[in-house]
Amino acid sequence: MSPRVPFNVAAGIGLRAPHVSHVRAERPNVAWFEIHSENYYADGGPALAALDDIRRDYPISLHGVGLSLGSTDPLDYFHLRKLKRLIARVSPVLVSEHLCWSGVGGRHLNDLLPLPYTDEALAHVCKRIDEVQDWLGRELLVENVSTYLAFADATIPEWEFVAAVAQRTGCKLLLDVNNIYVNAVNHGFDADEYLAAIPPPAVAEMHLAGFDASGPCLIDTHGAPVSPEVWALFQRAVDRFGPRPTLIEWDTDIPAFATLEREAAIAQTIMNVRHAVAA
Ligand SMILES: [Fe+2]
Repeated sequence: MSPRVPFNVAAGIGLRAPHVSHVRAERPNVAWFEIHSENYYADGGPALAALDDIRRDYPISLHGVGLSLGSTDPLDYFHLRKLKRLIARVSPVLVSEHLCWSGVGGRHLNDLLPLPYTDEALAHVCKRIDEVQDWLGRELLVENVSTYLAFADATIPEWEFVAAVAQRTGCKLLLDVNNIYVNAVNHGFDADEYLAAIPPPAVAEMHLAGFDASGPCLIDTHGAPVSPEVWALFQRAVDRFGPRPTLIEWDTDIPAFATLEREAAIAQTIMNVRHAVAA
């Protein structure tokens, strides 16, 4: 087996349940895996046992989908205590969440809902990111989400809002390149203007995934190969930010593991070319 690419310049794969036994049995040459934190909040059981086994051989990144960072409800310390316990168990290389809200009035909506890009929302979400980073005692990455509506009261372009979150809180960014492309098409902005507004030192990870283009707008399904347009945008992102830990995300119609390995290999080749150019 060839040596693994160092995590900080490597393409990784989102670990999903159908592939866990394959990974445990075959120990494929993947640089790192990302898991959804909430899937491992149980007190024990087979999923945690499998994770304990896999983490012995692979760097693991924890990616949360339910913290509801932007909500006006109080921060959920029940959720945060579970996250802190999982961090202690896994010793993850990165811990990330989404720049969104997922519920209000005590109701969880199981979705990544858009924030109004206003000064008030910016101050609110930054305060909560500060609180989470202080309480966890470590740096958090926040991810830009795909959106299908914009608020009439929004006053700040999304890319300025995202950059300001990193600048004000010292958190890092998980830049989802597919989400930037989906939003650029859906809302009619220039994806390159977005990249240009993001300070390179703030970017600690990138995501790549596929979308559905069969309807009136692009839907971020994580159920298809990365599109040629997103590969091209990723190349330009690597040109600007340099190689970063980059994840292939696939969550619906999950394909054979070999398909994910092929997608990761494309991302790795793009970063290697950029790395060679920079060296
Ligand atoms: Fe993502």
